[in-house]
Amino acid sequence: MKRLDGKTALITGAARGIGLGFAEAYVREGAQVVLADIDFERATKAAVDLGDSALAVKMDVTQQSSIDQAIATTVKRFGQIDILINNAALFTAAPTVGISRDDFDRVFQINVAGVVFTTQAAARHMIERGAGGKIINMASQAGRRGEPLVAVYCASKAAVISLTQSFGLDLIQYGINVNAIAPGVVDGEHWDGVDALFAKFENKASGQKKREVGQSVPFGRMGTAADLAGMAVYLASGESDYVVAQTYGVDGGNWMS
Ligand SMILES: NC(=O)c1ccc[n+]([C@@H]2O[C@H](COP(=O)([O-])OP(=O)(O)OC[C@H]3O[C@@H](n4cnc5c(N)ncnc54)[C@H](O)[C@@H]3O)[C@@H](O)[C@H]2O)c1
Repeated sequence: MKRLDGKTALITGAARGIGLGFAEAYVREGAQVVLADIDFERATKAAVDLGDSALAVKMDVTQQSSIDQAIATTVKRFGQIDILINNAALFTAAPTVGISRDDFDRVFQINVAGVVFTTQAAARHMIERGAGGKIINMASQAGRRGEPLVAVYCASKAAVISLTQSFGLDLIQYGINVNAIAPGVVDGEHWDGVDALFAKFENKASGQKKREVGQSVPFGRMGTAADLAGMAVYLASGESDYVVAQTYGVDGGNWMS
């Protein structure tokens, strides 16, 4: 018996990076997984690689019709949604005086409104079905503490931690656990983009910021999607039924709460 046998998970932003790592881990644990991403081509390729237990859907978490469509497609194909991971997000960096309204709006639409309205749609389905559920939000160490060049992203992840608390306290009455994972620095394409932004704003050589943040992790290196998968499986399984409204750091020791 695997830990997620018979469960169906909808994972936003699962075409690459951490979301894809979670999809792979969930399939290994017996779940059926929907990889929902704005990058449909890449999500499709990933789903094909994962086999019959996986389905790709095109989803833009900033569009209500797209959220509703992703929920409907998942239910049509697999019959139910037991697990939602709100994983899609966008990173930006700029000094205070350089923050653009467009960047702010885009980050908050994806990282915050996306979490609110995808959670709402999944929760409506879970409540109607009456079998509880698991909702996992991707927060960040950036949501615990501000950073000089990262105000907007940090604020968006602080909002994710707060939403996890409010939704967690509200939805537990229906047997729906809402919790969050706060990674530290996880290697991958996301961090290639972060590194390029720091190279620009801190005048660093390409790759330098990445080396620096990796060396400063108490564990001794950046994380990988695989380092986070254990927590994602735990929070999706019955083992975490009594865990409500929490945000767990999985960050090699970067943050202690
Ligand atoms: N990588 C890190 O160091 C790190 C650290 C802390 C937290 N996180 C968080 O973990 C999560 C995953 O991070 P990652 O490193 O895999 O990021 P990533 O940038 O590699 O992947 C994000 C995915 O989201 C998709 N996406 C973007 N906008 C979307 C939209 N509007 N609708 C649907 N999908 C959309 C992208 O196409 C992409 O596939 C994010 O919430 C991120 O903020 C990452």
